[in-house]
Amino acid sequence: MHLLSASCVCALLIAALLPSRVSGLETVIGLYGETLEIPCNNGAIKAEDVLITKWKYDKGEGLPGDLLVKQKNQNVSISATDEYKGRVSMAANSSLLLSAAKLADQRTFTCMVVTGADITEYPVNVVIYKMPASLEISDKADELEIGRLTELGTCVAQEANPAVNITWSKNNKLLVADGKGVSIQASVLVDPVTGLSTTSSILEYSAEKEDTDAKFTCSTQHIVGAELVSSPVTFTITYSTENIVLQAIAQDPLVEGDNVTLKCVADGNPAPTSFNFHLKGELVKVENADTYTITNVSRDTTGEYKCSLIDNPTLEASEDITVNYLDINLNPSGNIIKSAGEALDLTFQIDASGESKVSWTKDNVKLDKEPKFTKLTYLDSGRYECKVTMGLLSRKASFELLVEGAPVIRQLSKQRGEDGQHKVLICEAEGSPKPAVSWSINGTSPEESPYINGKITHKITVVPSANLTVSCTVTNEFGMDTKAINVSSLFVEVRVDKQDQLEDSDQTKLVVGVVVGLLVATMVIGLAYWVYMKKSKQGSWKTGEKENGSSEEEKKLEEKVEENSQKAEV
Ligand SMILES: *[C@@H]1O[C@H](CO)[C@@H](O)[C@H](O)[C@H]1NC(C)=O
Ligand SMILES: *[C@@H]1O[C@H](CO)[C@@H](O)[C@H](O)[C@H]1NC(C)=O
Ligand SMILES: *[C@@H]1O[C@H](CO)[C@@H](O)[C@H](O)[C@H]1NC(C)=O
Ligand SMILES: *[C@@H]1O[C@H](CO)[C@@H](O)[C@H](O)[C@H]1NC(C)=O
Ligand SMILES: *[C@@H]1O[C@H](CO)[C@@H](O)[C@H](O)[C@H]1NC(C)=O
Repeated sequence: MHLLSASCVCALLIAALLPSRVSGLETVIGLYGETLEIPCNNGAIKAEDVLITKWKYDKGEGLPGDLLVKQKNQNVSISATDEYKGRVSMAANSSLLLSAAKLADQRTFTCMVVTGADITEYPVNVVIYKMPASLEISDKADELEIGRLTELGTCVAQEANPAVNITWSKNNKLLVADGKGVSIQASVLVDPVTGLSTTSSILEYSAEKEDTDAKFTCSTQHIVGAELVSSPVTFTITYSTENIVLQAIAQDPLVEGDNVTLKCVADGNPAPTSFNFHLKGELVKVENADTYTITNVSRDTTGEYKCSLIDNPTLEASEDITVNYLDINLNPSGNIIKSAGEALDLTFQIDASGESKVSWTKDNVKLDKEPKFTKLTYLDSGRYECKVTMGLLSRKASFELLVEGAPVIRQLSKQRGEDGQHKVLICEAEGSPKPAVSWSINGTSPEESPYINGKITHKITVVPSANLTVSCTVTNEFGMDTKAINVSSLFVEVRVDKQDQLEDSDQTKLVVGVVVGLLVATMVIGLAYWVYMKKSKQGSWKTGEKENGSSEEEKKLEEKVEENSQKAEV
């Protein structure tokens, strides 16, 4: 008997868990707390044929419990005396209506129908389900620290039947226990009174940096009803400082007098708010700020600077600050007046924080190198400028040099005019300030060149009627110079010059000159004779009918040619 009842309970349990699999025994599913309809043979029997309908249930251990009876043409009579007394009634189609279903109602109810002489029984297995009342995350962690397994929260599914499984998701992606970053512990508590199961699931989670703003939810899927999802929870992700950087915020290039702001940038959540600044041996603590400003920097400010966390001095960053400076000193400066022939000592110094480039110009024209004046000439006068650059920095210095001195005549010369009728005298002088030029005779067409680099050239045209000695005189406030030149009358001078030339030449030159002269003369005569012969042969219009020129004509021609060649040599 005991054995039998045990196997019976087993069957019930199985039926409850796998209702559709039970063969021969119909199962109905009821929802907890609601009214459940248990059909009697699915209403297949015609009501007018039924004499008596009776509902009973299995009290366990094979004992039947009466519920109600209906006889033909009579009202339903409730025969239950126990807990079912106020909860049962019968529908017109013989179904048993059971209100306020509970888990204890999960048993077999039997409908017994008497028709004529037949008595038929229809047992129905009852299963009661209940969706969880609510799904909530409790015991939520205040914050998640990166890399540390933390109890994120507990998800509780209240009072369900059968007990539900809880799953966790992050951003709608299922979290699966992996023994490292995700760990889930579930437990089920059965209410001793109602028999309902409350499932709890604790998620332990090791956060990552990107979990900031991640939405964590838990959910259940019950046999009946839709998926239940908790409201999402988010967490503050904390982590300690891992990286620290010191930035120097300043103008580029940083020069003396500027300000530099040191900024200590550290990560971490929450980020540190106080820092130590190490200013070349001096320690400055800054609270509720991450910057420190050095004003009016000087070249002494150059050096290494550091910042560190107050509560973790090993986290430290450093940065080199370089204050650029470029000082130049050029001596002399301003306007300098010097006499020609003197020396001028230049001193030029550069004091700079880096490598610099120097370039010189004189009157805006580039010079190859730094100028040197060991013996000043008028040419040296001008504006000298040096420019020193170092990166974006540049400096300039300059001086204006004026070389002065009494004028000197460099050259006094003469030229024969193109027409042979006049001569041009040229007086070239040097001096500063600009010398005045004067001649001992009155010439024509005086011509004065521009005064450049202390030089001036003066020209006059003369027509010498006799041998003359002409002098050129140049003067300025520092003194004067004069030179004379002999000018001969035009016709005579040709011969004189030629003779002078010959006298000047040495013996070899003379011999060579004579030989070359004879050769040239011979060739020219030959050529002229040939031309003359050809012309007289071609046409007799010039010399008349005679084919051969007379000896007189030939002589005249030879004389003419000789004259020409002599002129050409001069
Ligand atoms: C019996 O009647 C009720 C209404 O009284 C109805 O809801 C139910 O479906 C019927 N059952 C069968 C098996 O016909
Ligand atoms: C900046 O410092 C220099 C000396 O290093 C000083 O002469 C100057 O007056 C300072 N300027 C200001 C504005 O404090
Ligand atoms: C040059 O001309 C001026 C007048 O034009 C005259 O007085 C002077 O004597 C002349 N000088 C010479 C050297 O001929
Ligand atoms: C000029 O001088 C030359 C010698 O140098 C002389 O032969 C000539 O006769 C002189 N002419 C006049 C016009 O005085
Ligand atoms: C010019 O000629 C004279 C002689 O007439 C002479 O004494 C003098 O040295 C000559 N001057 C120049 C510069 O040639």
